[in-house]
Amino acid sequence: MAELIALGAIDSHQEAILASSRKLEQRQRRLGSLQGIGDAALVAAAAVALWSAALLLLPSVRGGSLSDARLPLLVVLVLASFEAVMPLPGVIQKAGEMAAAGRRLFELIDSPGPGAEDPVRPAAPHRPAPGAGLGLSVRDLCFGYSPAAPLVLDGFSIAVPPGGRLAIMGPTGVGKSTLVGILMRFWDYRHGEILVSTAEGATVELRTLAGDDARSMFSVMPQSPHLFHATLRENLQIAAPAGRDLADAEVEDAIRAAQLGSLLDGLPEGMGSVVGETGRELSAGEIRRVALARALLREAPIYVLDEPTENLDEPTAEAVLAAVSARLRGRTVIVITHRERDLALADQVVRMEPPGSPDAKRGIIC
Ligand SMILES: Nc1ncnc2c1ncn2[C@@H]1O[C@H](COP(=O)(O)OP(=O)(O)OP(=O)(O)O)[C@@H](O)[C@H]1O
Ligand SMILES: [Mg+2]
Repeated sequence: MAELIALGAIDSHQEAILASSRKLEQRQRRLGSLQGIGDAALVAAAAVALWSAALLLLPSVRGGSLSDARLPLLVVLVLASFEAVMPLPGVIQKAGEMAAAGRRLFELIDSPGPGAEDPVRPAAPHRPAPGAGLGLSVRDLCFGYSPAAPLVLDGFSIAVPPGGRLAIMGPTGVGKSTLVGILMRFWDYRHGEILVSTAEGATVELRTLAGDDARSMFSVMPQSPHLFHATLRENLQIAAPAGRDLADAEVEDAIRAAQLGSLLDGLPEGMGSVVGETGRELSAGEIRRVALARALLREAPIYVLDEPTENLDEPTAEAVLAAVSARLRGRTVIVITHRERDLALADQVVRMEPPGSPDAKRGIIC
């Protein structure tokens, strides 16, 4: 809404909403009239049936084949039989609504979900001891968002050993966040390979794993994180391992590592305070750090941080980087960034170049 007002587009959108609600009102009125006609027709039919029954039975009463006492009973019976069909117009209307809702639900169920297809016989992922890292080797990766779309990645390669720290830099729109989506198996790649390796040299190709198994080896801080309309605690519990809730002390530890201690201390109900859309609104930098705390809380051998210090001032960014570096000791870290300061997290830097540029094929090491 604020954006529509700021862009001066509120009037045209208001008109469109008003036009839609007028159409809705017209249709509801027509539906109401139809329902009224249906109800009235049923009541009229019941009255006609009642009088017809009375008139038809009257000669039998006169002739003595039907007792006086039975006549009102039979007439009431005819009236009562209408009780059963009275709700039918409403049921017919509801049936239409339910069929439309069902259609939408089945469309959703039948649509292919996000993510690359799982292999028929998935391989087993690496599960190193907590605190250990895994190596990642991306070789000659080619990827476009659809078969007709131009390549975003064209022969892209990087390699980071277990426990290594790699920074990926490059111009905006070059495909850095796309690589994160590929690692998460949200997208499949056309050519090339992604190998995950243990310190002992065992390797597994990412696309031979089930999506959930592939993702279990990564903890990601996305570039555009989302906070749910829920408490701060609930927003962070998402990172809890399956079957176990994180202790408040663990959650608080991650919040303080992400330099959100003063935010937490200022919240009226601490971690139980509702944040998000209609709760306590957080600033862009605070949302980013909640996402960082989430990523830190998830135990994984490879951490991928997409622009971890965007929206942060210099001292806060430095404190965040120092805390993250200490916390992730031993684990493999891939940091995607435009900022030189984030290179403090890395021991090697790769610059991503757009497809077609002379250096694009090699992902040159700076
Ligand atoms: N879901 C998508 N469908 C189609 N194209 C996409 C999609 N997501 C990104 N792109 C396109 O892919 C290219 C790479 O985008 P990506 O977000 O990976 O860039 P980036 O290097 O992370 O940029 P930035 O530094 O601005 O974050 C861009 O041209 C973008 O428009
Ligand atoms: Mg990006």
